[in-house]
Amino acid sequence: MRLTILGGGGFRVPLVYGALLADRGEGGVTEVVLHDLDAGRLSAITRVLAEQAAPVAGAPAVTATTDLDEALRGADFVFSAIRVGGLEGRANDERVALAEGVIGQETVGAGGIAYGLRTVPVAVDIARRVARLAPDAWVINFTNPAGLVTEAMSRHLGDRVIGICDSPVGLGRRIARVLGVKNPAEAWIDYVGLNHLGWVRGLRVGGRDELPRLLADPALLSSFEEGKLFGADWLRELGAVPNEYLHYYYFNRETVLAYQRAERTRGAFLRDQQAGFYDGMTDPQAQALAAWERTRAEREATYMSENRETAGAGERDADDLSGGYEKVALALMRAIARDERTTLILNVRNRHTLSALDTDAVIEVPCLVDANGAHPVAVDPLPGHATGLVCSVKAVEREVLAAAESGSRATALKAFALHPLVDSVNVARRLVEGYTAVHPGLAYLV
Ligand code: G6P
Ligand code: MN
Repeated sequence: MRLTILGGGGFRVPLVYGALLADRGEGGVTEVVLHDLDAGRLSAITRVLAEQAAPVAGAPAVTATTDLDEALRGADFVFSAIRVGGLEGRANDERVALAEGVIGQETVGAGGIAYGLRTVPVAVDIARRVARLAPDAWVINFTNPAGLVTEAMSRHLGDRVIGICDSPVGLGRRIARVLGVKNPAEAWIDYVGLNHLGWVRGLRVGGRDELPRLLADPALLSSFEEGKLFGADWLRELGAVPNEYLHYYYFNRETVLAYQRAERTRGAFLRDQQAGFYDGMTDPQAQALAAWERTRAEREATYMSENRETAGAGERDADDLSGGYEKVALALMRAIARDERTTLILNVRNRHTLSALDTDAVIEVPCLVDANGAHPVAVDPLPGHATGLVCSVKAVEREVLAAAESGSRATALKAFALHPLVDSVNVARRLVEGYTAVHPGLAYLV
């Protein structure tokens, strides 16, 4: 079985490869094809993978190419984890937004829109090529903003593209842990929303909802990441545990201020940190895997640090540092390739799950997965405040998709202006000016 990884020179590729190494045997991936536009990044990551594979008998073979069509032909699965404009682009997304006093995170608010506007045309081109060159392949989209990008690709690939994110699983795992659930894998996590905009409303073990026990216990609430970020009182008022990215909404002023005051934004930090790693890999003597591990540990430890600082949340829990994104990807591939029926929280088309959205809107929801793909499970409706947020953000995403298709700058302006975290049409106008001035990838907007 052949897995093609787009963005194959990306920093998190060794996580995926590590998951494959731990899962050999019948029906598993035997060949990995890395595609990237940057040959230098490909060779750096290829070295890390070679060191990972060295002690493992029967490790999947790895090849690398800068030719997209060649990478796609013959693929059974395509993982798309690209970053259009690189980390310099991410840093610019943040900088331009913060100068206007709004959030510029890669998936939230103005930053998410700018990143989406750059990424959608590229993702659509990939989707068209997959439809032509590997029509039976399943596409797993990690590329952020993941919900929006998955929806763009689904217009060409239908249900053959599935978006993934590790934050809902991480959240479910943390809740299960504080509640002392013995086997977290058996817990049913009642979660729904859009990517990075969802809520856990219940956690059922053996048919019993354990979440009320957590919401009623201030000490338990204050003992895990989301409890510390949002505060016990707010979670109790909400009657749900929000995805950590909702911190940018519920504590918008504080997060904007914190990022404005930060010495470097997340994107700028990662740009410099990752450049150090990739530069180091040009030394033929370098220990590739060890350097990668060190860089990864530092990246994990500093994740959302500004948000945690404003909330006085302290350091991340050691159990939260191990990621999990590769596990979601592997679980999804296994379920499809081996017809191992399982439930995973994924980004798929709504169908009739949330009645406030149309059937083609991509949402994030528990899905039953098997050889036929991912099927959203029926869930309770969201409360009014959450439905309102989901609908406004989906409306913004639709403007981004329309702007990417038509190349209309006016439509792009509408996307920024309609976002709940952009507080004036004049701000939106300046954002369009600022972003088109710094991003060559937005030159198509006229
Ligand atoms: C979480 C999010 C991902 C994001 C990742 C890395 O897992 O769900 O969408 O890519 O964090 O964030 P970072 O700030 O380290 O790039
Ligand atoms: Mn994510």
